[in-house]
Amino acid sequence: MTTIAIYPGSFDPITRGHEDLIRRSLQFVDRVIVAVAVNASKTPLFTLEERLDMIRVVLRDDARAEVRSFNGLLADFARETGAKLVLRGLRAVSDFEYEFQMALMNRQLNDELETVFLVPAVHLTYLSSSLVREVARLGGDVREFVHPVVLEAFGKKLKR
Ligand code: PNS
Repeated sequence: MTTIAIYPGSFDPITRGHEDLIRRSLQFVDRVIVAVAVNASKTPLFTLEERLDMIRVVLRDDARAEVRSFNGLLADFARETGAKLVLRGLRAVSDFEYEFQMALMNRQLNDELETVFLVPAVHLTYLSSSLVREVARLGGDVREFVHPVVLEAFGKKLKR
C-alpha cells in the first residue's frame, strides 16, 4: 500500500525549514503532497502561483514530492487525494496549542486522517516564513534560510 502524506501550509515562501521537513518525511512515506492553502494568509507577499512555482523548483529532484494548491478544508482535500497523514512541523512549545487544535479538528472532520508532527533540524528550529519575510523586507541577508530560487524571488519582489 502506498502511504501518501499531505504537508499543508501557506509557504509564503518555502524555507529551508520546510524543505528539511519534506525530506525527513520521505524517509517513511512513499509520496508527499505539498499543499498550498489558497486562503490561509490574507495578504501573502508572494502570489499563489509564485509560491507553487518556487516549491516546484525546490523539489524538482524528487519525483515523490508533488506540489498542489487547495481550496476549502484540508480534511476534504485529504479525502480527494487519498492521503491518510498530515505532516506538520513543531518548532517550539508555542506552536503546540494551535497545532493540537488543528489536528483534533481535522480528525473530527475526517476520521481517517492522522497528524504526524516532525521536529526540524536544530539549526532550522527558529525559522519561520514570517520572520524570513521580515528580515528580507528590512534588507537583511536571508541566504542561509531559503533556496536560491526564493532568494531571487525576494530580490524581484522587493526590487533589489
Ligand atoms: O503554514 P500555516 O499558515 O500555519 O498553515 C495553516 C494551514 C494552511 C495548514 C491551515 O490554515 C489549513 O489547513 N487551512 C485550510 C482550511 C482548513 O481546513 N481549516 C481548518 C483547519 S483545522
